[in-house]
Amino acid sequence: MNPEAFQAKVKQRVADNFDQSYRLYEDFEKKHHFFYDLTVKLAENIGLRPGSRVLDVGCGNGVSALALHEKFSCQVMGVDLSARMVAAGQELHGSNPEVCLVEGDGERLVEVVGDRRFDYVLYNASIFIFPDAERSFREAAACLRPGGVIAFSFYPLLVNAAGDDLLSLAFQRLELPPPRFRVITDYQKASEALEKCVLSVVHHQWVRPLDLEFLRDFFFIPAQSASLFPGKDYIARRELVTRLFAVLEDVAPESSIVWRMAAGTKA
Ligand SMILES: C[S@@+](CC[C@H](N)C(=O)[O-])C[C@H]1O[C@@H](n2cnc3c(N)ncnc32)[C@H](O)[C@@H]1O
Repeated sequence: MNPEAFQAKVKQRVADNFDQSYRLYEDFEKKHHFFYDLTVKLAENIGLRPGSRVLDVGCGNGVSALALHEKFSCQVMGVDLSARMVAAGQELHGSNPEVCLVEGDGERLVEVVGDRRFDYVLYNASIFIFPDAERSFREAAACLRPGGVIAFSFYPLLVNAAGDDLLSLAFQRLELPPPRFRVITDYQKASEALEKCVLSVVHHQWVRPLDLEFLRDFFFIPAQSASLFPGKDYIARRELVTRLFAVLEDVAPESSIVWRMAAGTKA
C-alpha cells in the first residue's frame, strides 16, 4: 500500500473509532472534567492571551473549544475528523456564536478554514493520532498570523518515582505482548515536526498522581483502548483494560501521570 493510501486508511479508522466513542467520551468528561482541565493547563503553560482567535485541531465534541472560550474569552473554530464527535459538540455548544465546530481533516487545514487567520493553533490530546503531523503543522502555520503560536498536549506517560514506564510493566505483569505502538506519532516525532514550522519549541508538563480509576475510565473510551489492544472487540478491550490497571495497585501511590506539552512561535 502506498503511504497516502495507508494514511487515509489510518484516518478512516480513527474517525470510526471516535464515531463510536462520543457517548462514553461525554460520560468520561462529565465524571472527570479532564479534557477541559488539560486544555486550561495547556493554555496557561503557553501564556495564551485572553480574547485570542484559536483554531482547535482535533476538537472532538468541543470540550477544548469551550474551555478556551469560557476561561480565556477566545473565539474558537474547532475542526475534527469524526462526524459524530462534531455533531455531539454542535448539540452541546451550537448556540454559542463564539464556538464553531466543523468536520474536516486536521492535515488539510487551509482547505477547511479558507482565508481566516488565527493567533493560535492548538491540538489538545489529538496530534499523536495524526499520521502526518508535519503536514498538519505546515498547514497550521499557514493559518496563523505572523508571531502566532502552535501548541499541543500529548498522550499520557505513566511513570514511577524512578521514571520507569508503568504501562510496559503492566503488560509484563499480565504476560501480554505490549502494543506495537501506542500512538501513531510519538512525542519526539511530533516535536521535531513542530520545530520545522516554528522558531523554536518550548516543552511543558502537567504531572498528576497516578489514579487507577481515572485510567480505567480513560481507556474504557473505545478510541483510547483501541491503541492498547488493536484487533480486539470492545468488550474484550474493556476486560483487558480492567486487568491491566489492576496489576499497578502496589506501585500507584508512588507514581504519576505526565501530560507533556510543546509550543512554538511562527516567525
Ligand atoms: C482525544 S480527542 C480530543 C478532543 C478535544 N480536543 C478535547 O480536548 O476534548 C482527539 C480527537 O482528535 C480527532 N482527530 C484525530 N485525527 C484527526 C485529524 N486528522 N483531523 C482532525 N481531527 C482528528 C479525533 O477524531 C478526536 O475527536
